[in-house]
Amino acid sequence: MKQPRALKVPLAATISAALMATLLPLAPANAAPTATSTTEIAQTVSVDSAVQIAAKKIQRNPSKTDVFVNKKYPLSPKKYAPKTVAVKGTNVRLKSSAATAYSKMVKAAAKDGVHIRAVSGYRSYARQAELYNYYTRIYGQSYASKISAVPGTSEHQTGLAIDVGNRNSECGLQACFANTPVGKWVAKNAHKYGFILRYPKGQESVTGYSYEPWHFRYLGTSLAKSYKNSGAKTLEAYYGVAGSKSKDTSTKKSKGTAKTTANLNMRSGAGTNNRVLLTIPRGKSVQLTGSKKSGWYEVRYSSKTGWVSGKYLSNVSMPSTPKKKESSKDNKSKSTQAKSAKTTANLNMRAGVGTGHRVVLTIPRGKQVTITGSKKSGWYPVKYSGKSGWVSGQYLNNFSNSAPKSNSQKQKSSPKSSTKKTVANLNMRSGAGTNHRVVLTIPKGKKVTLTGSKKSGWYEVKYSSKTGWVSGKYLR
Ligand code: DAL
Ligand code: ZN
Repeated sequence: MKQPRALKVPLAATISAALMATLLPLAPANAAPTATSTTEIAQTVSVDSAVQIAAKKIQRNPSKTDVFVNKKYPLSPKKYAPKTVAVKGTNVRLKSSAATAYSKMVKAAAKDGVHIRAVSGYRSYARQAELYNYYTRIYGQSYASKISAVPGTSEHQTGLAIDVGNRNSECGLQACFANTPVGKWVAKNAHKYGFILRYPKGQESVTGYSYEPWHFRYLGTSLAKSYKNSGAKTLEAYYGVAGSKSKDTSTKKSKGTAKTTANLNMRSGAGTNNRVLLTIPRGKSVQLTGSKKSGWYEVRYSSKTGWVSGKYLSNVSMPSTPKKKESSKDNKSKSTQAKSAKTTANLNMRAGVGTGHRVVLTIPRGKQVTITGSKKSGWYPVKYSGKSGWVSGQYLNNFSNSAPKSNSQKQKSSPKSSTKKTVANLNMRSGAGTNHRVVLTIPKGKKVTLTGSKKSGWYEVKYSSKTGWVSGKYLR
């Protein structure tokens, strides 16, 4: 698949886009200080001796470098297209400010002997739609939404985000990229050039996306520095806004409430070293999200989410074990007695519980897997095609107490297809093109089975019980 060129947008359209964009007020009307709260504001400073920082506005204008984009803050207009330039020596495009900063970063890395490759930069609405639809087709919508943005909500569409890789594509677009030379270098240094790692590990429920150690967002050096210094783990936390959860569901999922006993700073993290998002007036009721850390509570107030010190909360009502959901007998018998289940999507089997673990193989949708033990945090230990690992229970159904039929018999009865040999160590990818994730690397000289699908010089092949795409250039 080819990366389409940037859409040519007449200047007038860009200007009207800028005018159409709205700035969301950060401090809502009901948090505005009243006459009586003037003295309380002074108290805030003594309650929490940190400097009171004015709440930051959330930039919705897509032509600004600090535009905030996520699942809940789509681009407006949704088909916004920036003016872009080709990044020096590549055909990846970015807005010129980001391209210049990126090239500077590449140069600095090269001086350290690290060679950054630009994998994907600006993507138009249409291109993002192609990608998102593709992932939905192969993984199902739920999983696709964790790795790919719905068109109109991708940072790539702003021309300010870039996916990077190693020259040899080692661990390209995979979690293990973090441990490669480029992965380590950018994690340590990108902020100096105005880029931040946008989808960190362990923050999936906040950003709405799986860990992407390769995705960097250009914010400009001063905002990137402020973000880094704030200690916030995500841009969502930095601004104190919702990521993956909608306002409606977050209200429903509230894990209790509490009352503030002072004008209380809500911060981007647990501790006074984090940035103040807003000050909650004394006597207000806040919602608890269920997260607690070193005496600090994560709370929601006035459509913001952040952390407050528990010292200034009263009437705290939070269930002690918020994650017990599996108490019904039905669920219990499912998780402890079922011997097999069926996959409802092309499902990654991972080396451990959670998407932070390595993918062992991808089990095609509709396959029966053997459950080898008991469920852990919603994940099941399973066996499939001679391999063992963990899969998310979200994508399993038809739990049954009988073990599945042997797989080998089914494979033998499948129609004969043609084979080819790899002439190099060859990456098998989730789609036809180097911008797709690497499923595995097939060693040179191995025989692969062609499924019959071909696209732009790429072949869909089977190897070692996985199916994916390889470039036809390296097949004989
Ligand atoms: N992979 C990121 C989330 C995107 O599609 O923008
Ligand atoms: Zn990306």
